[in-house]
Parts: sequence; C-alpha cells; structure tokens
Amino acid sequence: MNKVFTMDAPATSRRLDDMRQGLVGKPLDRPDGPFKVTGTATYAHEWNLDGMAYGVLVRAPFARGTITHIGREDIEAMAGVLRVITDARFLRNPAQGTADEAPIQGPTEVFYLGQPVALVVAETFEAARHGAQQLTMKWDCKTAVIDPETAETEEGENLEQGDLDAAMKAAHATVDATYHTPCHTSAAMEPHCSTAVWEGDELTLYGSYQMLNYNINELADSLGIDAANIHMRAPYVGGGFGSKLGIAPEAVAAAIAAKELDRPVVVALSRPQVFETTMRRSETTQRLRLAADANGKLTGLGHEALVSNLEGETFSEPVTQSTHFLYAAENRKMAINIARLNKTCAGSVRAPGEAVGMPTLENAMDELAEKLGLDPIDLRKRNLPERHPEEDIPYSSRKYAEAMDTGAAHFGWDKRNRTPGGLREGEWLIGHGMAGASRVNSIGEASARVTLSRAEDGSALATVETDMTDIGTGTYAVLSQVAGEMLGLPMAQVITKLGDSRLPKGAGSGGSWGASSSGSAVFLACEAIRSQISEKLGLREEELEMKDSEVTSGNTRRTLAEVLEDGPISAEGTIKPGDTADDVNQASYGAYFCEVAVNAVTGETRLRRMTGVFGAGRILNEKTATSQCYGGMVWGIGMALTEEMVHDPRDGHIVNHDLAEYHLPVNLDMPQLDVILLDERDDWACPIQTKGIGELGFCGAAGAIVNAIYNATGVRIRDYPVTLDKLL
Ligand code: MOS
Repeated sequence: MNKVFTMDAPATSRRLDDMRQGLVGKPLDRPDGPFKVTGTATYAHEWNLDGMAYGVLVRAPFARGTITHIGREDIEAMAGVLRVITDARFLRNPAQGTADEAPIQGPTEVFYLGQPVALVVAETFEAARHGAQQLTMKWDCKTAVIDPETAETEEGENLEQGDLDAAMKAAHATVDATYHTPCHTSAAMEPHCSTAVWEGDELTLYGSYQMLNYNINELADSLGIDAANIHMRAPYVGGGFGSKLGIAPEAVAAAIAAKELDRPVVVALSRPQVFETTMRRSETTQRLRLAADANGKLTGLGHEALVSNLEGETFSEPVTQSTHFLYAAENRKMAINIARLNKTCAGSVRAPGEAVGMPTLENAMDELAEKLGLDPIDLRKRNLPERHPEEDIPYSSRKYAEAMDTGAAHFGWDKRNRTPGGLREGEWLIGHGMAGASRVNSIGEASARVTLSRAEDGSALATVETDMTDIGTGTYAVLSQVAGEMLGLPMAQVITKLGDSRLPKGAGSGGSWGASSSGSAVFLACEAIRSQISEKLGLREEELEMKDSEVTSGNTRRTLAEVLEDGPISAEGTIKPGDTADDVNQASYGAYFCEVAVNAVTGETRLRRMTGVFGAGRILNEKTATSQCYGGMVWGIGMALTEEMVHDPRDGHIVNHDLAEYHLPVNLDMPQLDVILLDERDDWACPIQTKGIGELGFCGAAGAIVNAIYNATGVRIRDYPVTLDKLL
C-alpha cells in the first residue's frame, strides 16, 4: 500500500494534533544519542573493511594552468605505495559536471588551487600521505583571476519593477549602502570521507553524505555506471551544512581506486583539503537601496549583488532570495552578477542566499529606521506586504510580526540604548540591535516505509525506513516521534533506519526540507497503516484511537499485538512538491535581539546576550529544533565577528585553510542564547504543517549583532566580519 499526497489544496487535516501518544513537539532525547556518545555510531572513516587500502588526494598547487607531467613512477616505487591514479573522472569536483566534460588522461587543466590531480593509494595512510607529499609535477601556469572586482562577470537574476531611481530621488529618506561578506566554509565537524568496495559490478560506498538518492546518481554519472549498481550507506553524518549535498572528489576517487586495485579503499580529506577541494560560499558585494516616504513606508527597494563561481558553474549565491517577498515597495530592483574566478567551486553553504543576504538587508533597514527616527520593529511592521510584492500571491502562515513582538518583550527591547555610542561601562561601549529572520520553505519528493510488527517479546514495534540522513539534526528522533504518535507507540517501540540508499528514497538533508519531507512521508505511511487496521477490525477510521500499544474505537479495545497476530502491517508514504507551491509564498520567519559590549580601547566585541524567536510551523521536537536555532545563531555570531576565508590575491591559495586560522566561535565567544519557538501550523507547507527550521536561525542573525555594534559605537561597519581592526 502506498499513500501519495499531492498538494492541490492546503492540508486541512491537522491529524497530528488529535493524536494522543504525546510525542510530537516534545523535547525528547535523540534515540541515536547514546550511540554517538559511547563511540558505537559508525562514522565515515570507521568501517575498517578487511584488506582496506588508503588513498590520499594530491591537489593542484596553483590556481590556473595545465599539468604537463606527473611523476607517478617514482612514487609507485616507494615502500607501501600501491598505485598513483590520475583518472580523469575525479580530476574535477563532481559538482562541476559529468566525467565527459573533464579532460582525459594527459595534460590536465586546472581551474582552482586544490583541484584534485592524483590519488596515491598505499597499504597504510602514512605511506599514502608520504607518497602524496613526494609526488612531483610539471605544469604551465596562467594568471589566475582571484578578485571578483577585476573578473569578467555574467548576468544572473535580474528583476526590475517600477522605477527605483525615481523612487530614490523622490523619497523622504533613503539608504544607499554597499556591504561586503567574505567566503565561508561549511566547517562540518566530520571531514569528507568515503570507503569504497566492489563485489563484481556492485559498488558499495560508506561515507558522509547528505542526500543519498541524489548522491548515487552523481556517482553513477561520474563513473559512467548505472546508479542501480551503487549502494551508499551513511547512517551517521557529522554535519554537512551544504558541503555534502553533492558528493565530493574523494567519493569518486575511492570508487575508482577500489575498482583498479580490487580491494576496499578509503579516502579521507584533511581539513585543508575540505576547505580547498569541496565547496565554499561565495564572497558577496551587495548594494542595498531603500527609499521611504515620511510615514516610513518603503517606496523603493534595491538589492544588487556581485557573487562568484568557477567558469561554467550554474550556482550563484541567491542573496536576494527573501528580499523578494519580505518587505513591500512598489519600485524594485534585484540583480545578481557572477564573477568568474579561479577559486574553489562555490555552492550551497548553510542557508545559501539568506545567510548573507538577510543580514545586509537588515543592516540597511536599521540605517533607514535611524534616518526616519523610527523603532526598527515599527519600520519593519509598516512594510509587511499584504501579498507578495512581485508575484501578487498570498503568504502562507507568517509569524514575522509576532516573532518581533515576542522577542522584544522577552529581551526588554524597550530598555535598549537609544543613543548610538551613548552607553558606557568603563572601557566597554554597550549596544543593542535587532534583525529579522526569513528563509524560504520547500519540500522535496520523499518516500518512507513504516512496518508494524511484533517484537520477540510479543510487544508491537514500528520500523521506519527511508534513505533520509541524520546529519546531526535529529532525524532519527523526529521520524520516530511522528511514527510513534500516529501509531500509538512509545519512542522505545519505534526503530528508525536511515542512511541506506536501498531504503525508500527520500529528499535527503538539505535546504531545511528534511524534516518536513521525510516527516510527511512517515505520516502518510502511518495514515495508510491506520486505514488498514480500521479495515481489518471493521472500525471507522475517524474514530480510531491508537495509544500505548492499544487500538480503541467506541467500545472496541484491542492491543496492537493482537492486531498483528496474523502478520506485520506495512505501508509506504510519498510526498511530492505540491501544485500550490507557486500560488502561496512559503517561508519561515523570526527575529533576533542582542546586546554587545565593544571595548573602546581594543575594539573587541563581546556578545553579551542574544534572543532568537522563530516561527517555522509545527515543531516536531522542541529540543532538536531549539538546537538547530542555537546552531544557526552560532553561525551568525561567526559571520558577524570572526569567520572569513581569506584567499591570497597573488596565487589564490586559502591562507586560513584550517580551524586554527578560520575562526569559528567557540564556547568562550558564546553567551547563553535564548530561543523561543512560536506555536504555529502552516497548512500550506505539508501534511504535518511543519516548515524548515534548520537554517532559519542563521538567516539574519549576523545583522542583529552588527546593528548592535553600531548602537554601541556609532560606527557603521559594512564589511563582514566586524573584526577589531575595522572598529578602531
Ligand atoms: Mo544546507 S546548505 O544543506 O545546510
């Protein structure tokens, strides 16, 4: 039985609200938590297959040119080294197109520093690394293009509505400001790693991936084989943040090496390799123009950006994504231009678009509020559109104003410093700032199978199966909660199996669609099971209650174990992106409030406290959702204060390609963060009324901190991150 949901009308059933098990929404522990903290959860580098060989990637030490010779013979003569592989199929990032487009053996064209050019495989990791370090190459270098300002550009998105220039001229108050954000790295805790093993034509890959259903196809394309012959397993993933949405070169290299050597091969990337060889977030230059009338109504809104990527890449950081619908203004201009650079492929890094587009928009709104003499919250509320200002469609549920009001009350916004630079405690200048959060919402096609069966002890057991991943977000927990809720079972009687490409295909973890998509698939499978049970017992489905392993309806009462006496009951659920998605603008919203102290002598900024309020539809697990918001806010703190990938303008190498020099916020940088989740159901979003929350906590967070720094110091810094040198 397969229940398919198609959204040609908003989901009217809020069935989860009527369930009695009491699991959904609760701050329950992750069922996988104990495995992780006891070291029994198997991560990508821990499969230790018999006869395994080790591969280490060798990468181009220059950013543009051609490799004319690779000294493989000398390396293959070294003790322990098995093979030096220079297979064209892994020479370019799989994200950069299929193998057909990559050069075949021989002279190898290099597009960025760090591009893989060879794999040294040896009996031990040490021997492979030694061989990789000793490998000699000859090459012809060309001048690399590193600076977006001097690069050739291509036009991306371009929207013009009305006449922004005229609106700017006629306005009562305007802001015309240019902001800069640097390249970011995903910095997932677990570096990329793949272990490949072949049995005949069947390839199994154990690794760290976000979206298995897509990843097997990417690998099939790269290798030129059939995806049906690929089995991928990623039961535990130590973070991805976009860098594992697509497979990285180590997966292709491991698969090729394992085939050539006819034994399992593991290839792990070092941290510098993750920086240089997987994915970066583009640097951005963003011009924000705001025009407002005397009542604080926006009449014009412009958001034009310069981003970058490699030649030929289609992705461009979608910085204007939420700007399109967040605020009203008749005259609009949004544009994205793409500079073609010789830097590592730019792609999706946590909350692509809003991560860097929302803080700058919210900085500009802060500048405008000051010019108008308005409370920043008031300015935002005056400009909430009734309908999408460009597409003239309605919004689904939108808790933006409520998030601002709730946050203001919780934070004590009315007691904020009202004079920029005017509140001082000794050496420290104190400031307060706020910003809005917005992130587009979507779902992906997803299926899940749920099976009700009897465990050995006779009790009822639900097994949830999908190739969905848990990248640290809490998928195991939330899917178990949905199934337990729907089938009336405690968490301990639900087993969720994930991260295996042979299970029903899901949408994977990415773009914050994971929980909504796979959660809906599990919900639909459970609905189908409830129908089957009703039919079996001759009961009316609407009157069926399932709780604590019992089925009740009117005077009928059965244990689930009895219902399952003559065999298990199984069903699949499938959700597909709905027809209504084009007719209703869906997004998650929120607001941040923070207090900073900026040292007047050293220029260092300390975040003192921060509140984030978020409306993301139904919350499936208060604890894991809150943790996602903490994580997002930490990203925001990093973006505001420390995170910046620095390329040497002369040769394009990443100067700070490790976590010692690429400064992520650490515990000492972090005050207690307060997260408030609003009670919301979004009937347009999916059958379980959830929206994406994973990335929401980041989408504007940095802007609140930078607004607070202005409030503390009276200095507007428009160049992220706000390091001390910029403040002094
Ligand atoms: Mo998302 S870019 O996969 O964090």
